[in-house]
Amino acid sequence: MKFELNNKKLESIKADFEIIFIQNKNLKKLDKEKDFFKLNNYEGEGALLDLNNKKLYVELKSLAYEDIRLSLCMAYKNLEKLNIKSVKLPSIVGECVVKSFASLVEGVLFASYKFDKYKKDKKTSTLEKFIISSEEINAKTFNHDEAKIGLERGKILANASNFTKNIVNEIPEIYTPLKMAQDAQNLAKENKNITCVIYDEKFLAKEKMHAFLAVNRASVHPPRLIHLSYKAKNSKKRIVFVGKGLTYDSGGLSLKPADYMLTMKADKSGAAAAMGIIKAVAELCLDLEVHCILGATENMIGENAYKPDDVLISREGISIEVRNTDAEGRLVLADCLSFAQDLKPDLLIDMATLTGACVVGLGEFTSAIMGNNEQLQNDFYLSSKNSGEYATVLHFNPYLRELIKSNIADVSNTSSSRYGGALTAGLFLDKFIRKEYKDKWLHLDIAGPAYIEKSWGYSSFGAGGAGVRMCVNYLIEMLRKNS
Ligand code: BES
Ligand code: ZN
Ligand code: ZN
Repeated sequence: MKFELNNKKLESIKADFEIIFIQNKNLKKLDKEKDFFKLNNYEGEGALLDLNNKKLYVELKSLAYEDIRLSLCMAYKNLEKLNIKSVKLPSIVGECVVKSFASLVEGVLFASYKFDKYKKDKKTSTLEKFIISSEEINAKTFNHDEAKIGLERGKILANASNFTKNIVNEIPEIYTPLKMAQDAQNLAKENKNITCVIYDEKFLAKEKMHAFLAVNRASVHPPRLIHLSYKAKNSKKRIVFVGKGLTYDSGGLSLKPADYMLTMKADKSGAAAAMGIIKAVAELCLDLEVHCILGATENMIGENAYKPDDVLISREGISIEVRNTDAEGRLVLADCLSFAQDLKPDLLIDMATLTGACVVGLGEFTSAIMGNNEQLQNDFYLSSKNSGEYATVLHFNPYLRELIKSNIADVSNTSSSRYGGALTAGLFLDKFIRKEYKDKWLHLDIAGPAYIEKSWGYSSFGAGGAGVRMCVNYLIEMLRKNS
């Protein structure tokens, strides 16, 4: 899809179709269209097509970024089936020009995202160009340079999210840890500023990553530890992302019931998000050093499977009592977080589809932010609000810490209580964070929005690309505040 800025007035731009945004249900200004609206019983909600005059009326609830995304998504959905190539529209400028234009692009690119490789009947659209006039729907001063930056940022963010979605949506037969390693290597090949190192099971054994290895034991697919990195010449900070890359989670011997196993191809969403983030960071040339440590494995059953009752010695030397083999993500992350801390990060963020409890507690739309540094959590939360992703802070407390104590090891991989599962999983990870990194660490449980079983907003069925936009947005804001 092409997005073109045009300095002409809307009426002098040539295009196959025109989008007219309807704000605040204020239809009075549109006198000419009054009869047409009346005839169609249109009161400004949703969209209305005028095929004769080649116009699409579409609701724009407010100039908030999320409303811009939703409006452009609705516009695209109404236009994609028409046999047209180009569409013209006015500029929409909310609080920040860059973010408004980025949101406009995101709305279109998310609306047009499809995972249809397994369908014979692929629905393609002829629409290829959005021409945006400098004429604005709310007469502010149009800034061409900022608009251009916004369009570019929107493209990078949406493409990175859609790249993440493609990884998550791919089926488990195809998407093994080796495939993830291959994708990571391809990412490095395509972007000369990204490097990729892949570690195999022998390396994991040498590194004493026995918690990670235990999860992999019953799988026919070998595990991989994937290390992607990017370093700008003027790097201001070193950020390390850690991603849970369970290419399939059957639950292991603590087998999941059939209904719960379905969608567990999406248990690689944390790793997939990290890949999307580093892609975006490199394309945006952010002045940062970014590393991604991805733990890729399956969690399967078999003669060699690790068992409830086992005790594992992690890379940090902390022993773990296994009480449920379905709480496997935290085992993989424990060893990956240990490896990640050796890189001496200024900021350490792990992302994982870690608990069903998080989905029960927060719903399918919201990710949880956990950690020990309240300021960092709040800053991250505030920047997530502009990103188009929903997130909320969950706070630790000392009583919850009691619940993961083990009688025979340093920590148990499950809680002794039925309640507070998202937090006790976060507290399990906290056990593996060294003193000097306690305040530099955030844990994001993206179990809800990582996979969408019923489409909502501009998110289609399947992978949601959770984590990508909120993390990149946080990094952009962090750099802006530091400069
Ligand atoms: N991958 C799951 C968590 C999950 C559940 C993600 C639903 C997305 C949707 C994780 O490995 C898991 O199974 N966690 C268990 C932990 C329990 C055994 C302590 C859970 O949440 O039930
Ligand atoms: Zn599990
Ligand atoms: Zn899992």
